[in-house]
Amino acid sequence: MAHAQNDLLADDIEAYLDQHEHKSMLRFITCGSVDDGKSTLIGRLLYDSKLVFEDHLAALESDSKKVGTQGGELDFALLVDGLAAEREQGITIDVAYRFFSTERRKFIVADTPGHEQYTRNMVTGASTADLAVILIDGRKGVLTQTRRHSYLVSLLGIRHVVLAINKLDLVDYSQEVFDSIEADYRAFAAEIGLTDITAIPMSALNGDNITEPSDATPWYDGPTLIGHLESIEIDDEAHAGAFRMPVQWVNRPNLDFRGFSGEIVGGSVQPGDTVRVVPSGRESTVERIVTQDGDLAEAMAGQSVTITLTDEIDISRGDVIAAASSPPGVADQFECHIVWMAEEHMLPGRPYLMKIGTRTVTATVAQPKYKVNVNTLEQVAAKTLELNEIGVCNINLDRAVPFDPYAENRDMGGFVLIDRFTNATVAAGLIHFALRRSDNVHWQAVEVDKVARAHLNGQQPAVVWFTGLSGAGKSTIADAVEQKLHALGRHTYLLDGDNVRHGLNKDLGFTDADRVENIRRVAEVSKLMVDAGLIVLVSFISPFRSERRMARDLLERGEFIEVFVDSGLDVAESRDRKGLYAKARAGELKNFTGIDSPYEEPESPEIHLDASGAISPEEAADQVIEHLRQAGILTPPTPHTYDI
Ligand code: ADX
Repeated sequence: MAHAQNDLLADDIEAYLDQHEHKSMLRFITCGSVDDGKSTLIGRLLYDSKLVFEDHLAALESDSKKVGTQGGELDFALLVDGLAAEREQGITIDVAYRFFSTERRKFIVADTPGHEQYTRNMVTGASTADLAVILIDGRKGVLTQTRRHSYLVSLLGIRHVVLAINKLDLVDYSQEVFDSIEADYRAFAAEIGLTDITAIPMSALNGDNITEPSDATPWYDGPTLIGHLESIEIDDEAHAGAFRMPVQWVNRPNLDFRGFSGEIVGGSVQPGDTVRVVPSGRESTVERIVTQDGDLAEAMAGQSVTITLTDEIDISRGDVIAAASSPPGVADQFECHIVWMAEEHMLPGRPYLMKIGTRTVTATVAQPKYKVNVNTLEQVAAKTLELNEIGVCNINLDRAVPFDPYAENRDMGGFVLIDRFTNATVAAGLIHFALRRSDNVHWQAVEVDKVARAHLNGQQPAVVWFTGLSGAGKSTIADAVEQKLHALGRHTYLLDGDNVRHGLNKDLGFTDADRVENIRRVAEVSKLMVDAGLIVLVSFISPFRSERRMARDLLERGEFIEVFVDSGLDVAESRDRKGLYAKARAGELKNFTGIDSPYEEPESPEIHLDASGAISPEEAADQVIEHLRQAGILTPPTPHTYDI
């Protein structure tokens, strides 16, 4: 099989490349638990298709002698477990994409680790796959992780499954073992909607039923693994769907040309087609489909092209050009599945960045409706999602985005969430449907506005946000600032953490999630008070950068003044007026900021106060007042007239 190909490679490189070009491509993932023999299987596929590079082979031979567990034979697992760290641990730890080909097809295989904590890698690998090879150790049968992986495979929309019942050499190639594992698996798979399953008995180590039918399993008359992968028909859903192209960039090299570039993620397009631009809703006709190799008469899902339209309409990055007859929806609230992929658990209410298509927006996730126990498929009540957990949640965006349900189009309905400060991907999400609530709640226009009230008050409304450890001196300084403002005839209100926690926030404790909600509420209240024309003093520990940023983003430029009351932990602890540090040190008070709950210092506060005792609270308050004066907060805004 591969030999003829290699001869061609030697003789006529052009013909070889041409042959490659026109073969169809199958993307698949392999999932299995540690030690199921996944790496050995992939190594075997690569080796048997003879596309392993010569220098790799040489390294493999010498490695197998050094490290190999196969007694001097080639250890195929070493081919795949490329990283030194993995070799030492003996497990694969990241997604690796491998390319190989046979005479009939090209393949990209995503090798995803089987270790329980690496669900995130599997989601990454699975999101583009057409088929999943699920490995089972013939001695162990269907395991918890087999169920977890299969559930993810089904959730991510992979329709075709190969059940590779491996290591059959270790159970004497027993048909009974094979049959009973297959029956077990089919019973489970039916519950999660997986129906296209091909079970193959194999030993990846010995090469049984990988490329050639094995004499050791005379009772099996199904396909070999390669035979099946080469011939399975993949009904390409992306090709079949309606035309979608999220615009990556507007291509305008000169005044005569204006094209929109991006990858087609659904359906196909031809010059003359009527398209609609979403969200604007404008319609036009496709004029040309431009590529580096000239214009096309048709382009399909998977191709990257530049489209020109017959009309001059406004289109920017992130818009979707779509079939006018069946355009995607536009919404800012969704129900979705969330797969949490970060060590830190999800914080309902915290703003994360959401990347969907070529757009990035800000999104907050509500408390999960439930999470799924992937072993039993039970729906379990949950307040948050931990690493590797999967739940169903509502999500709220700061802007409406074009979308399709994930089940209809993986690219239009799949998204990732990113932490705003660390830039790490914390979750993957799949849109079920849009929530229409926002259509029914309208913004009520009012005549007397913030500027009018501010003018009457003779000041610029603002939030002065004091953050720092318990005992740093926030409340003392904020109190002094309020007295001074009051004496100057300004209109103020002081929101103090301890006080607000007696009323509005008395249902909240000190878990991370409760602190996020605590700050979200107080930020919203301060915004209302700013609208009322007040200078609002907020004195909360507010330990997380994300939520202080959320508060800042709720307000207009210049309205949020962050004051870092910086005493250092030692000084705050030595003050300990309420005796809380002592309790926390003694383990009687959990989640105490600075002791067993983090405090994230501001990176660039408007005011950084030394609260270690070097200056008095009076002097600190004077520094704040001086800043407010210079920022124009104490002077009235420009007069403003309105009709009565
Ligand atoms: S925040 O972290 O959510 O912003 P907030 O400012 O409202 O905290 O409340 C802090 C006050 O609650 C502290 O001044 C202290 O008196 C009290 N407190 C009680 N338990 C804790 C705790 N575990 N961590 C921090 N403060 C606590």
